[in-house]
Formats: sequence, structure tokens, C-alpha cells
Amino acid sequence: MIPTLLEPAEFEAMMQAPSVASDAPTPAPKQLATRYDGRAKVTGAAKYAVEFEPPTNPAYAFVVQSAIPSGSITAIDQAAAARASGVLAVITPFNAPKLPVSGPQPPARRHVTVLQEPDVFYNGQPIALVVASSLPEAMHAASLLKITYKQTPAKLNFEKRLSESRPPKSPGREPGAQTRGDIPAALANAAVKIDETYTTPYQHHNPMEPHATLAWWEGEKLNVYDSTQYITGDTQTIARTLGIPLENVRVQCPFTGGGFGSKGSTWSHVILAAMAAKLVQKPVKLALERPQMWGPVGGRPATVQRIQLGATSNGKLTAIQHDVTLHTSIMEDFLEPSADQTRMLYASDTNRTTHKLVDMNLGVATFMRAPGESSGTAALEIAMDELAEKLNMDPMQLRLINYAEKDLGSDKPWSSKNLRLCYSQAADRFGWSKRNPKPGSMVEGNNLIGYGMATATYPANRSSCQAVVRILPDGRAFVGCGSQDLGTGTYTIMAQTAANALGIDPSLVEAKLGDSTLPKAPVSGGSQSTASYAPAIVDAALQARLKLTQLAVDDAQSPLHGAQVPDVAFKDGKLFLKSSPTTSDTYAAIVTRAGGKPVEGMGSAEPGEDHTAMSTHSWGAVFAEVAVDRDTHMPRVHRIVATYDIGTLMNKATGINQLYGGIVWGIGFALHEVSYLDDTYGRYVNANLGEYHVPINRDIGEIDVTVLDIPDTKFNPLGARGIGEIGITGAAAAVANAIYNATGKRIRHYPITPDKIMLA
Ligand code: MOS
Repeated sequence: MIPTLLEPAEFEAMMQAPSVASDAPTPAPKQLATRYDGRAKVTGAAKYAVEFEPPTNPAYAFVVQSAIPSGSITAIDQAAAARASGVLAVITPFNAPKLPVSGPQPPARRHVTVLQEPDVFYNGQPIALVVASSLPEAMHAASLLKITYKQTPAKLNFEKRLSESRPPKSPGREPGAQTRGDIPAALANAAVKIDETYTTPYQHHNPMEPHATLAWWEGEKLNVYDSTQYITGDTQTIARTLGIPLENVRVQCPFTGGGFGSKGSTWSHVILAAMAAKLVQKPVKLALERPQMWGPVGGRPATVQRIQLGATSNGKLTAIQHDVTLHTSIMEDFLEPSADQTRMLYASDTNRTTHKLVDMNLGVATFMRAPGESSGTAALEIAMDELAEKLNMDPMQLRLINYAEKDLGSDKPWSSKNLRLCYSQAADRFGWSKRNPKPGSMVEGNNLIGYGMATATYPANRSSCQAVVRILPDGRAFVGCGSQDLGTGTYTIMAQTAANALGIDPSLVEAKLGDSTLPKAPVSGGSQSTASYAPAIVDAALQARLKLTQLAVDDAQSPLHGAQVPDVAFKDGKLFLKSSPTTSDTYAAIVTRAGGKPVEGMGSAEPGEDHTAMSTHSWGAVFAEVAVDRDTHMPRVHRIVATYDIGTLMNKATGINQLYGGIVWGIGFALHEVSYLDDTYGRYVNANLGEYHVPINRDIGEIDVTVLDIPDTKFNPLGARGIGEIGITGAAAAVANAIYNATGKRIRHYPITPDKIMLA
């Protein structure tokens, strides 16, 4: 009999590495030194959604967007467009195929974006689709549409509408408001107080590859290549929206050119591409233009955050209140929970956090890298710096005094927390002890130099996941999982994890992901992919190895014939007797003798019960040195030094790279990023990468990242927590605090541009 249930002890052992003897020291997981997909990426062999060639010549679709922010479309005259060269179809709310009423995602107001109703809720909303033989023809025909609107007053000025804020209809991942202790009394009695308001602007994700979809039908079956962070969810949403059986939809996405949260949900263009492909009976390619990334596919909501801190004269926090107001779309609620980290980051028995929303005629916002903790720490960590200054205390010291030994928000112990070590290691590497707390006291030529620091934090998440591992007759192996690789390293970790769990070299493993026919995986969002799929792969490898062992002990030709399964161990592509390691049989020989059919193991992993009994978070400390020119007030980041506690570092190349990326984004958050909204017409006026500033190389300076690499085995058997989002957290505030230390000017409104420093 092949054991199908996992022995917990064996599972744990498998997680660590190929084991020889149970008392041998556990070797660190063997890492792939270079990215699995590195060669494909740099040679251009890696293909993205609309680069795939469908079975027959494709048509091209162009999304037409509303030119008004609120109202409805009364007519679309498409006569000229329909006559234009190459045009195959013009789809509008007046002629679009009717979809089932359940809508793409409840609530059904999003229905308008797939042309089911003539209502307009924001400027830029998809209101028609032109399909033609070529993209230029589609774009030209789109310009010939005569659209008549009936306009209604729009809600467009966030700052002027703050008084209209209301509690969220559907809270974020935590209740929208939480209180412990008597806040008013604690604030009234505090020896030292801070009460300030911080703002963060509209931001829009711009992965290198904009959203793009290729769709074609084969009878009732729909094939989709889509740029997505969530193959499994994409497939489900497409099937549900179109009202077709799940098994009739196949979504593939071998490479995602970045996502950052924007590709975690299925937006209207995916549905429109499928709809168009059915209508014109051809494959349809639909790639959003860069400016179309501002509006129809999410973004980060603007926030206004009031923070009140109360402390004793020794710096012990006695009260924390963090009230967040965010904009949301009039179509539906989306809440970025910017106050969530304030519930648990510092020890204060008295704590209140709230979130409120203001309805606006804008597209629906969505998850954007570290949704909550990025904008939340951007405010909270300046407030802590302000409090430290008022206390005449070192900012890191203030954080150590208020170190939270458990999660006071959920009243649970941490699964693992080594934040003290992050502070001390990063501070040493940075040279924090050389900081002069007096603003303007450090000078280099015409520059004022400033040092600032902040705490980084992000929750550790994991979800149910499945995987398949096959041992092949040539001694190689295959690992498959319906996850996706956003450029973060999923292929690499999948191959490495399967190799370690099978005891073979990682170069012998073929990894496949990004196909809905593979076992189901969660969204690559919330920094959860590795922690979810790696245990499933280890389980699948174990199942495959157990089957292989059974084949060997049953095979009269095997040197292992007649042995008991538990007496057999594995290493270097071989099974051997624990009592006599030279009695061995290779994987290749066993599979070949059994007929050459790959030996397959299906695996799965669920978050354990421990997961709900503990609070699981990653931690970090970020230090920044900036220079601010005395004349131009231009701030420049000289260097960032950061240390993170993210559990086991699964792979140095892909892990550290994500932390760099997060920090770079944190610098952009601090100094550059803002979508400017025209509050008369409701369009973002800098909807392009020329005017929506993101950091370039010259903006970054040096980045020095270390990780503690302390396994969090209470979180999962590999000890690895997520790494994708924590890098952006804390980074913006560290830069803001450094600018204050340089200039004595406290800028509380992001981004911190030279004009704000000059006028402060
Ligand atoms: Mo991340 S914003 O959860 O993709």
C-alpha cells in the first residue's frame, strides 16, 4: 500500500532538505543561483499575453472610454466607424451581448464596464469596443464614433468632500474600526502629544507590461492568454461573468510583466476581449495603452490620515489614534486599510483606528503593493519621528521603548518576531550613531544632509494550494502549479523546492505555472505565494517519492527489493537503505524498469491551525540618508540601509531583489508618485510615464539590504514568510524623516517635491 497520509514528522523533515539520517544537522535549502527563467527573460524567449500567436489570424480591439465623469450615454452613432477600413465590429452598451445579471464581481455596478448599461460613473470608463483587422484601424475607427451623453454632477474633489465621509459598507481584511482602552482620557492625560494630519495621493500601478488579453473560441471552449496575478481566480471570474461552465475556460499566463496588485482581479477588458472574439469569430488581441492604466484597472486610493499619539515623558506610548479617510469609487467600496498596522506595531493598551470612505466619480481602486501598510506606515512613521523629537529622544529608542511583545490588536502571540535585531543590525550598518538630531547640522557642500529611520511591517499570509510533481524516466523531474510569476521568482522557487524535496539537482527540474489546467493556487498577492505553494510542492514531491519507493521495493530487479518503505532514504537522485547506504537504486532506473511512465505525486497544503492562534507578520528597519540642495530644495536619496526579518530566505537572488524593488518604490512614494486629477472633468492629467514620475537610477543611490534568515516554522514548515510587499513599507517615512533631519521642514503631504520643501 502506498501511504497517502502525510506523517507530520516526515513532512517536517522533507521541508528542511534532502535528509540522509534523522540526526544529521539540517542543511539550508539548496538555492538556485540564477533565475530559472533568467535566460528566457534576457533573450526575449519569454512571451507575454498578446505576444502569443493564436491558431488563426487575430483581430485587434481598442477600448473607447467615457469623456464625462458622470451621467449616461444617450446615443452612439457608429455609422462612420462601421464603414471605416478594417472594422469588424463596434460593440456598445446598445448592442453588446447580454451577460448573466450576476455581474463580473458583485456588486453589479461594474456591469457598466462590460457594456451592459449606458450609465457612466467615471471619466475613462470603458463605454465601447472597436474591433478591426489591425490596431491602427481600430483606433482610427474609435475616433469616428459620435457619442452623445447626458451629464450629471460629478463628485470629484476629494479634499472638499471629506465631510461626506462614511463608514465602509464592506470593511477590508479587518473590521474597519477597532478600539481598546479609553482614548479621550489617555490623550487628555498624556505628558507629550502629537496630533497631525498626513496625506497620500492617488497613485497608479504601472507594471512594465500593461494589462493585456488574447482570447479565442474553439466552439464552446474559450482560450485566454491574460496578464494576471491569479490564473485560478481569472478563470472563475471569466466563466461566471460570461455564464459558461468553468471547464470551458482555459487561462494561460507563463509570464506576467509585473502586477503589483493591479492584476489580482479580472478587469473589464478581459471580458470584452472574450466577448469580441465570439462576435467576430476570430482571436482578439486587446492590450491597454499606457494612459488606459489610469482608471479602468485600479490604483491606490488617496488618503487623509489623522494621527494622535500620547506618551509619558519617558516615551512610553499611552494612546494611539489613527483615523483614515480614503476615496472610493461611487461604483463600489474599496478600502485600503491604512490604519491596520497601527493596531499592532507598538505597545499601547489604548488604541483606536478607524477607516472612512468618500464616494467619488472615479474608477474602482484596488490592491497596490502593501495596500494599507505602505500608505499607513508612510504616515504613522512620520508621527513617531515627530513624537521622538518632542521627547528629545532618539527615534529608534522610541520604537524600542514601545516594542510590542505580542499583538495587542488581536491579543495573540507572534509566530516569530526579531525586529530588535533588525533595528540594531541596520543601525550599525548605516552608522546611525553618527546622526546629529539637530536639523540642518550635517552639511556637505551645498547640501543639507539628513538621517531618518522607520519601521517596516507586513502581514504573513498563506492560503490553500495544490501542486503536482512527476519523477521522469531520465532522472529529471517536473513540478507544476497553477501559480504565476510576476517577475518575483516563482519558477525559481518552485524548481528549487521540488529539487530539494526530491533530493536532485535543481537544474534537473522543469517547472510549469501560469495555466489553469494545473493544480489550483492562490492569487499572487498579499505576499503569500511562496508560503502557499512551496509546502504543497513538498507534499507532492513526498507523494511521488513514496510511490517511487513502493515501486522499488516491489520490484524483484531492484537492489531495494523486499525492503520496508520507512527503511528507505533518498539522496542525489537515488533511493538507498538507511541501514546500508551503498544498497541503492536510481530514480531513473526505477521509473524505467516500471515501464517509463512518470511517477506522479499530487500534493496540497493548507494554513495550519496554528495560523489562526498566532499573529504572523514580517518586520524590518529602514534607514535613509538624504541630501537636500540649499538652493533648489531638490531632495536626493544617498543611501538606504534596511534589515528585514522575513523568516527563511528561500532564494537570495529573487528575495533580495524584491526587497530592493520595494525600497525603490518607497523612494518613489516619498518623492515622486502622484496622479493629478482634473477635478472639473475627472481625468488624471499626467496619465503617462513622462509626467507620472517614478524613480530612475539616478534617484536611488545605494541600497544595502540584509535579512536575518531566521525560520518562522510556526508559520509554515519551511519557515518562510512573504517578501513581495514589506520592502515598500516604512521606506517612504524613512526618507521623509531624513528630509526633516536635513532641513527642519516637516512635510506631511506626499510626494515630497522641492516646491513643498521650499514653501514649508
Ligand atoms: Mo499585492 S498589492 O497584494 O499584489
